Order: sequence, then C-alpha cells, then structure tokens
Amino acid sequence: MNIRIEKTTNPKPLPDKDDPLVFGTIFTDHMFIMNYETGKGWHDPRIVPYGEISLEPSAMVFHYGQEMFEGLKAYKADDGRILLFRPDKNIERANNTNRRICIPEIDPDDFLQAIQEIVSVDRAWIPEKPGTSLYIRPFIIATDPFLGVRPSDTYMFIIILSPVGPYYPEGLDPVKIWIEDEYVRAVKGGIGEAKTGGNYVASLASQVKAHDEGYSQVLWLDGVERKYIEEVGAMNIFFKISGKVVTPMLNGSILPGVTRNSCIALCKEWGYPVEERRISVQELFEAAENGTLEECWGTGTAAVISPVGHLRWEEKVLQIRDGGIGPLSQKLYDTVTGIQLGRIEGPEGWVVEVK
Ligand code: COI
Repeated sequence: MNIRIEKTTNPKPLPDKDDPLVFGTIFTDHMFIMNYETGKGWHDPRIVPYGEISLEPSAMVFHYGQEMFEGLKAYKADDGRILLFRPDKNIERANNTNRRICIPEIDPDDFLQAIQEIVSVDRAWIPEKPGTSLYIRPFIIATDPFLGVRPSDTYMFIIILSPVGPYYPEGLDPVKIWIEDEYVRAVKGGIGEAKTGGNYVASLASQVKAHDEGYSQVLWLDGVERKYIEEVGAMNIFFKISGKVVTPMLNGSILPGVTRNSCIALCKEWGYPVEERRISVQELFEAAENGTLEECWGTGTAAVISPVGHLRWEEKVLQIRDGGIGPLSQKLYDTVTGIQLGRIEGPEGWVVEVK
C-alpha cells in the first residue's frame, strides 16, 4: 500500500515530560485516513495533519451506530526501539468486528502498515515516563448520507494517536467496582464480542450511577440469568480462587481482550491452573466469605493490569485482600509491561518493532 504523507506545517508543542497525560485528552500532529466505496474498495490511504473531518449530518454513523474501533499501544524501549504489543490480535479482532456489523474488512498487512507508518511519523510523541505509552485508536465510520437502515456503501478508516498515562486515576492502586444488577451490557448473539460503540453507550447509565456512589467501573452480569460474571466494559476480569486463576469464558457476549489472552498464556506458562468458565456472583461472594478469594484484577489495553480492591453487589460490599495489589496481579503487571517495553522476552511474535 502506498501511503501519501502530508506533514503539518504547524506542529503542536509536545506535552511537558512531567505532564500527567490524562488518558485520551491529548492528540498528536497527524492522523491516518483511508476511504472505502463499494466497487472501488479501500483506497486513498494518507497521513495528514490531525484535525477536523467533514461529514454530512445524514452520515449513517450518526444515526445507527455503524462504527467500530480498536485500541493498542506503542512503547519506547530503553534502547530507543518503538514496540507494538500483539498488533496482529487487534487487527484480527477488528476484522471480526467488521464482519459482525457489515463493515468491509481491511487487509491485515495494510492495517499493520497504516499503524506502523502513523506511529513512525509521530514517534516524537511517544512518552517515556514509567506507566505511559502512545495509545493508538483505529476506527471506522459509515459515511453514506442516508437515513434508511442498511449497511453503508462508503466508510472512513481513521487512526489517531494519544500519549497516555494510566486509564484509571488510581494508577496501580486497586479500583472499586460496582456489580450491575439492573441494566445489562450484551447478550449472546448480540454485539457484545464486537468492539463497537453500541456496547459502550449501553454502559453509560450504570457508569454514572456507579460513579455517583464512588465506584470507578461497572462489572456486568450475563443478560439472561443475571447471575454470571461477564466483563467490566473497559476490561476483562480475573479472579484467583484457591490457587486457581478463573476468568469468565468467551461466551459470545464478552470482548475477547488481547491482554486477557496474554494473561491466560502467562499464567499457564507459570504453572497456574487456569479455568475459563462460568462464574456466578454467588460463587464469588462465597469464596470471599470462606477466605478462598485471593485476588481480583482487570485486564485491558488501556487498563493494562488493574487490581480490584472492592466489589459491590446489591447491598454487600466485598473488600479483596487489604485493598492492596496482590502478588500475582503485580507479577502480571510487571511481566506484561516488561514485555511491552522490550525488557523481558515474551513469547514469539508478541512485540513488533516500528522502524
Ligand atoms: C482499550 O482498552 O483499548 C479500550 O478500548 C477500552 C476503552 C474503554 C478505553
């Protein structure tokens, strides 16, 4: 793919080294754009100055939500190399999402090239302080000016970049999570396993309620029986119970997280029994009561490994451990971030260098 590059003539100042880099608030100088049209396919790949895009108010994305997104990160290694973490997994998931919501797939090699070139152009924006990285947000929007419900015939694929610190203001301090028993996020057969905005808008009312009560995030239960734990929305969830690592199985309504997949692989490599299965909220609270619930943490690209210190379900509040990070969560955080930064050798193919 031949990507046309138009550099900005008006570069923005880079964030100060001591800037806290509040997640998702700062954007780099450039963005990648590629268009799609039925009959013509994906065409006109270009890197242009970051800025506003122009769409008709009738563009289909505004009305029926035909859009997808991904999230991955670029890291600056100690030796100056720029590393991506398992971009192939994000690209594979992106095309799974595309198929589910009738967006034309993107050639995986072109997708990776687009990521590599935009990151390379804005490489000066990759922050270097511990706990920071360059968040990469690829997304596709339906752009036909049309009010009927059908798949669009035109799309824009855009990649923007944002230097970020931790997703949660708590950083590595454990977060408080609200188990939602009123609303549901997704059901099997729906779009829960696709990375599309609809799943996130479905979470807002609960998130507002949870925030008002002093909780950072919502943990979703299954949409049918409302008994089984699913995911947190911004992350997948893990428990350590009686020495075993337990996480909800991918059942069709849970997002297949790249960090989730990586944690399972690492825990297995370290010899922990790993169970991907249904886990009821009842079982979890019983494990807490009988002292076998040892740790709880979330995994996600933005959240990395995020220890959970409190879970609230109906009127019950569970404090996990003393509210501090557990040893396995800490080991996973150190190992995953160590691999991402090129300090620890991970399994074959987990890091991809941007030249
Ligand atoms: C990510 O972890 O990359 C996500 O897309 C989650 C989002 C809520 C920030």
